[in-house]
Parts: sequence; C-alpha cells; structure tokens
Amino acid sequence: MALQLGDIAPDFTAESTEGTIKFHEFLGDGWGLLFSHPADFTPVCTTELGEAARLKGEFDKRNTKIIGVSVDSVSSHEEWKDDIAETQGYAINYPIIGDPDRRVADLYGMIHPKSLENLTVRSVFFIGPDKKIKATLTYPASTGRNFAELLRVLDSLQLTAGYSVSTPVNWTDGDDVIIGTAISDEEAKKRFPKGFKTVKPYLRITPQPDK
Ligand code: BEZ
Repeated sequence: MALQLGDIAPDFTAESTEGTIKFHEFLGDGWGLLFSHPADFTPVCTTELGEAARLKGEFDKRNTKIIGVSVDSVSSHEEWKDDIAETQGYAINYPIIGDPDRRVADLYGMIHPKSLENLTVRSVFFIGPDKKIKATLTYPASTGRNFAELLRVLDSLQLTAGYSVSTPVNWTDGDDVIIGTAISDEEAKKRFPKGFKTVKPYLRITPQPDK
C-alpha cells in the first residue's frame, strides 16, 4: 500500500553526493524534505534543483534538511551539478541520493509507470521530527514544482504542530489563521489572547499566535 500521512517515513541507507546517508540519522531531530526528480541532465529538473539550492537557507531557518533523489547514479549527479551551477547560478548545497537500483524510489512509491516509465516522478515527502510523513506532493515530469509553495506548506505544518489552529486558503506566514473546531469559545479566549473573530461558529479567525 502507498505511504500515507502519519506513516513513519521508511528508513534507508543510500549513497549520495555527500557520502553514505542513513536517512533517519541524517534527519536528526528536525524536519525533512525528501524530493525526487525524474532524471539528471533534463531541463525542468535542472531548474528545480537550482531553485532548491537557492532556497537552502530558508529550509535551514525552518530546521529542515532537504535531500534529492533520482534513479541516476551518484557519479551522474556529480557531473550534472556543474551544469546546475552554471545555468541556475546556485551550486548544489544539499545531498542528492543515487538510486540506480530504485531501492529508495520503490520504498517511497516514487515510480508511477502510468505517468513515467522507470523513472521517479516529482514526489515530495515532508517529514516531521517524529519521522512521520506530514504531507506529500506528486507532480508529473512536465510540471516543475513551486519551491516557495514547499516553504509555505512547511510553515503551515510547523505552525499547526504547535498550536490548535489550521491555515486557510492561500495562507502565508504572518496571515490570520483558523481556530480548531474542537476548541470551545471559552478555551479559545484563554489560548488566543489576541482575540478572535467569529465569522460562523465553525469559522473563527485569530492572528497568527506565534507572531
Ligand atoms: C525535465 O526535467 O524536463 C524532464 C525530465 C524527465 C522527463 C521529461 C522531462
């Protein structure tokens, strides 16, 4: 069965551009983002991996380790890294797993043969400090991901892990949030001292509590 939200992200040992990775050890006590790309030396992937390098500092700020994977070899990744730096202006500053035997790809269900035969699609796994899968995204080879969206999702996951709130449509860090329906008005008054607006009994809006 495919991995589901709440499952433990499977552990593995694999070779990468930064040496042998023991995945859970690599994640440590923080958050993780494991993302696959279809193939080295391809156009969309080149832009995506360059963007991930550009945003590495933003992931660091969120205590989140990022790591790429494809079914290419580590030596292929090493060669390709030069092209990424040359064309995107950012040198790869995070590990990329070489997975020619598809062990990691199969473990995470990253190969979707009806979309792309024998190669990983564009999968993303957001992993919490408890090693559980908190969110996933899956895009086809033809659609490059929006890495600002990955940061936005991470902001929501990290906020909602600490407070009984959820984030509304198009929310970005600093916007108002929604108080969980399990929280009574009395409790909400205590937990959200900045106050809240009741639009409907099930829709109560409060300023982001950690700002
Ligand atoms: C790309 O990154 O552009 C790509 C990768 C695999 C198949 C098709 C396109």
